[in-house]
Amino acid sequence: MSISVGIAGMGAIGRAVARALVDGIDGYHLHAASDVNPPTEFDIPYFDFEQLCKSCDLIIEALPPHIVPQLTPHIFAHEKDAILISSSALLLYPEILAQKDSVTSRIIVPSGALSGLDGVSALKQMGIERALIATTKKPMGYDGAPYIVENNIDLAAIKTKECLFKGNAIEASRAFPANINVAATLSLAGIGPERTQVEIWADPEIGGNTHEITVSGEFSTIRGRVENTPDPANPKSSMLAAQSIISVLKKMNAPVVVL
Ligand SMILES: NC(=O)c1ccc[n+]([C@@H]2O[C@H](COP(=O)([O-])OP(=O)(O)OC[C@H]3O[C@@H](n4cnc5c(N)ncnc54)[C@H](O)[C@@H]3O)[C@@H](O)[C@H]2O)c1
Repeated sequence: MSISVGIAGMGAIGRAVARALVDGIDGYHLHAASDVNPPTEFDIPYFDFEQLCKSCDLIIEALPPHIVPQLTPHIFAHEKDAILISSSALLLYPEILAQKDSVTSRIIVPSGALSGLDGVSALKQMGIERALIATTKKPMGYDGAPYIVENNIDLAAIKTKECLFKGNAIEASRAFPANINVAATLSLAGIGPERTQVEIWADPEIGGNTHEITVSGEFSTIRGRVENTPDPANPKSSMLAAQSIISVLKKMNAPVVVL
C-alpha cells in the first residue's frame, strides 16, 4: 500500500522533495501540500494544515521555523507521523514535544545539512562529554537574523573571517532561528541543547556553508566537516537538506537499511 504524503511548505526544500516523489519513490505518493504561495508546478490540491493532516498518512514539514507550531497541533490531532526539517522549532517551541507526549505520532528529524549523526548517536550510548558545532557562511547568509538585527551588525562591512556568536544551542536557536537547524539537530542527537556549544562565523571568502562538529567521549572523538553549496532556490538553505528527507523516506521503506 502506498503511503500518501503531504508537504507543508513548498519552498526550495518542499519542492525538491515533491519533485522526487513525482519522479517516483517506492511506497509513497505525493497527495497534497500547503503553502501561502502555492507553486503551479505540481498537479496536486493545496489544503490548509488541518485538511492536509487529515487527508495524508505522512506529513513533511518544510516551513519557516516560526510557522511550525501552527502545523504540529494538526499532526498530533490526527496522530500522523511527520518528518520535521525545521529542527530549531523543537528548541524554540518546547510545547511541540510536550504536546507530542500524549499521542502516538512519531517525529523524525532528518540529518539536514549535517553529517556524522550516526557516530554521535553511537557515542551517546557510552556518554558524550563535549559537543561543539561551528557554522561558517558568507556574511549575508545571516541577513535578517534576530541577533544581527538586535546588535546592529553591518554584515556588508565584514571583510575577513569573524566569529559573530558563541553560546549554547538554545541561545543560538533564538539568535539565528532560520540558520541554525544543524545545531538543533546535533543537540537533539547528542547531549541536549544546554550542553551543545555553538559558534557562528562569517567569512566573505568561504565558498559554501560549512558546518564542523567535534563530539567527544571517553573513548572516541568524532570530527566532521560538511561544505554545502547554497541552494540556488534559497541561498539560506542547502541542497543536502532536501536530499536528507528523500533519504529518510527511502530508509523508512527499505528492506536493508544502513543507519
Ligand atoms: N535541518 C536542516 O539542516 C535544515 C537545512 C536547511 C533548511 N532547513 C529549514 O527548512 C525549512 C524550509 O527551508 P526552505 O529553504 O524550503 O525555505 P523556503 O523559504 O524556500 O520555503 C518555505 C515555504 O513555506 C511557505 N510558507 C510560509 N508561511 C507559510 C504558512 N503560514 N503556511 C503555509 N506555507 C507557508 C513559503 O511560502 C515557502 O514556500 C526552513 O525552516 C529552514 O530553516 C533546515
